[in-house]
Amino acid sequence: MNRPTDAHSMIQAATPTATNPGYMPGFGNDFETEALPGALPEGKNSPQKCNYGLYGEQLSGTAFTAPSHQNERTWCYRIRPSVKHSARYDKIDLPYWRSAPDIDPDVISLGQYRWDPVPHSEQALTWLTGMRTMTTAGDVNTQVGMASHIYLVTASMQDAYFYSADSELLVVPQEGRLRFCTELGIIDLEPREIAIIPRGLLYRVELLEGPARGFVCENYGQKFELPGRGPIGANCMANRRDFKTPVAAFEDRDAPSTVTIKWCGQFHETRIGHSPLDVVAWHGNYAPVKYDLSNYCPIGAILFDHPDPSIFTVLTAPSGVPGTANIDFVLFRERWMTMEDTFRPPWYHKNIMSELMGNIYGQYDAKPQGFVPGGMSLHNMMLPHGPDKNAFEGASNADLKPEKLDNTMSFMFETRFPQHLTTFAATEAPLQDDYIDCWDDIEKKFDGTPGTK
Ligand SMILES: [Fe+2]
Repeated sequence: MNRPTDAHSMIQAATPTATNPGYMPGFGNDFETEALPGALPEGKNSPQKCNYGLYGEQLSGTAFTAPSHQNERTWCYRIRPSVKHSARYDKIDLPYWRSAPDIDPDVISLGQYRWDPVPHSEQALTWLTGMRTMTTAGDVNTQVGMASHIYLVTASMQDAYFYSADSELLVVPQEGRLRFCTELGIIDLEPREIAIIPRGLLYRVELLEGPARGFVCENYGQKFELPGRGPIGANCMANRRDFKTPVAAFEDRDAPSTVTIKWCGQFHETRIGHSPLDVVAWHGNYAPVKYDLSNYCPIGAILFDHPDPSIFTVLTAPSGVPGTANIDFVLFRERWMTMEDTFRPPWYHKNIMSELMGNIYGQYDAKPQGFVPGGMSLHNMMLPHGPDKNAFEGASNADLKPEKLDNTMSFMFETRFPQHLTTFAATEAPLQDDYIDCWDDIEKKFDGTPGTK
């Protein structure tokens, strides 16, 4: 069941890169790659006849007329055109993969919530059957908002393929290793890394090392991009060169196969007689990408106080309102704390944005206990949150030497829209009923007399 791969049947480009075999460096570059010599037309996109008898086809990731700095499309040269990878559709049910709006009238989303890791089951689960939606926000039909998911994968997809017409997926592994065999090449993914799988891109997910669990941010809106650095300048945070896009790889394989499509929140299946991963060469700037989070260079305060967490943004998906993201992907990783006369952990606050956090490994500084690797928390729109008593007392009384927060990596999917818990998140997932109590024993210190307490 866990056959790791039949990638040996994929013929992969030998394009060398200085940094990673099998990948090309850069974010949003205009790439070109071919798995067979001469498969990529030179100087034109649509020659009268393509070499090797390939079909030319464009995959548009933005409207044709999007501004040139945002315009994304890729030209594919493939064994069969995509119309041959699609037949009549049957609706199928994947009951645990939900889309916004998905509001259970019996569930209260107004609250501060935290979950232990969702456990694996005895059942063999693939990327599709193992997806568990925790929250949804916005509306998939109007292409605003997002969903957050946990994936639990214990089996490879075999002769089965998938694409989402609704969304791009930001994948954040927490345990196990996965291989994404996509139309445009192969991405291997493990904890500390993330991947972006674009809207409309066909792929199959194989289990390389299991069980595999992780988090997914399903972005219905505009694509993720790198945040502007403003006065920080041209370097630090996530650097473009550290993103990796796969070189071309293809399969020429006949086998009864299924293609599942997520479209307007519903799942549909079509049957074909061959692998649709048949792109021999491609060029363009609409492509999957991965990134190693240990390359993220955090910026912070070096004398006193504490910047807003937006200083740790890795990727942002704009909403159309300047500075107000549909989604920010924010990383809390190892870093030095050096601030003088400062309460160093995240402060107490209420936020117009909704914050969903996940722990990849280690201990998070605002919550020494209870927020464990694989676990999640939700602090919804305009709900107060902050350090628990232990974190507050510890940080208020600490000897403020330079200190390294080590072995810690958590993240936040922050959206401008309120996040609604799914029925699964409220009733089946391991919700910590006592999370709200973590602030219970915070004392009133004020007694009307001046001075610190
Ligand atoms: Fe917060």
